[in-house]
Amino acid sequence: MSMRLALLGTGRFATDFAPALVRAGHDVVFGSRRRREGLLAGAPVVSTAEAIASADVVVVALPGETALAFLPEFEEALRGKVVLDVSNAFTSDGDLRFPTSSVGEQLQDLLPSSLIVKSLNNMAGYIAGDPSVLSETTVFLSGNDERAKRAVSELLASIGWAKAVQIDLGDITTSRAVEHLGLLFWALVRKYGTGEFNYRLVLADGVAASS
Ligand SMILES: NC(=O)c1ccc[n+]([C@@H]2O[C@H](COP(=O)([O-])OP(=O)(O)OC[C@H]3O[C@@H](n4cnc5c(N)ncnc54)[C@H](OP(=O)(O)O)[C@@H]3O)[C@@H](O)[C@H]2O)c1
Repeated sequence: MSMRLALLGTGRFATDFAPALVRAGHDVVFGSRRRREGLLAGAPVVSTAEAIASADVVVVALPGETALAFLPEFEEALRGKVVLDVSNAFTSDGDLRFPTSSVGEQLQDLLPSSLIVKSLNNMAGYIAGDPSVLSETTVFLSGNDERAKRAVSELLASIGWAKAVQIDLGDITTSRAVEHLGLLFWALVRKYGTGEFNYRLVLADGVAASS
């Protein structure tokens, strides 16, 4: 099913992710602080407010601290919307910006009427958009609202994330686990010299897989 999607931010993640959404037949716009003519990565660039107003699902592709500072002014526009948060927050030294919390949890506190779902924050944007570039790989989802997680799950399925590789970790507090995985992500980038990888969960024989 085609969805109306707003990608907030026109940076690396948003522009690497957008083409897959367009290919899958979704109606995609970028929401930016600066409206632009023409297309970027296959989609128009409108203002943040216009993008949010037009969307069923709003994708937060902003630096984590920026999202927390910038989005509260759009609280009313984001009321009732599914908000897919792909962000992370690190200090300039590469440490966790929120070692006892997460952007996902704080965003849900700041936007109590929005339905925050954390996902896709552990991988490069082009892998998020096309998991077939890797052999079977895992994607995590965290969020308080089951309907919102189902909507994000459908969105992920539409771009190639089979339901079997989607793991619903639970409520939004579990976004802390996947954001803190960022420390491992950057250690692996340092080891391999690239971010072209993703995680794969392997369950022991006999452990029942559930989404
Ligand atoms: N890069 C990846 O592959 C990747 C992978 C997984 C997760 N992530 C996460 O996705 C998020 C975005 O990463 P990125 O690499 O795309 O970052 P980025 O290249 O720095 O882009 C972020 C975008 O945020 C907007 N922005 C910047 N400062 C802002 C401010 N003060 N107020 C409002 N908007 C502002 C800008 O868009 P406008 O100028 O159009 O407003 C900018 O293009 C981060 O939280 C990152 O951890 C990234």
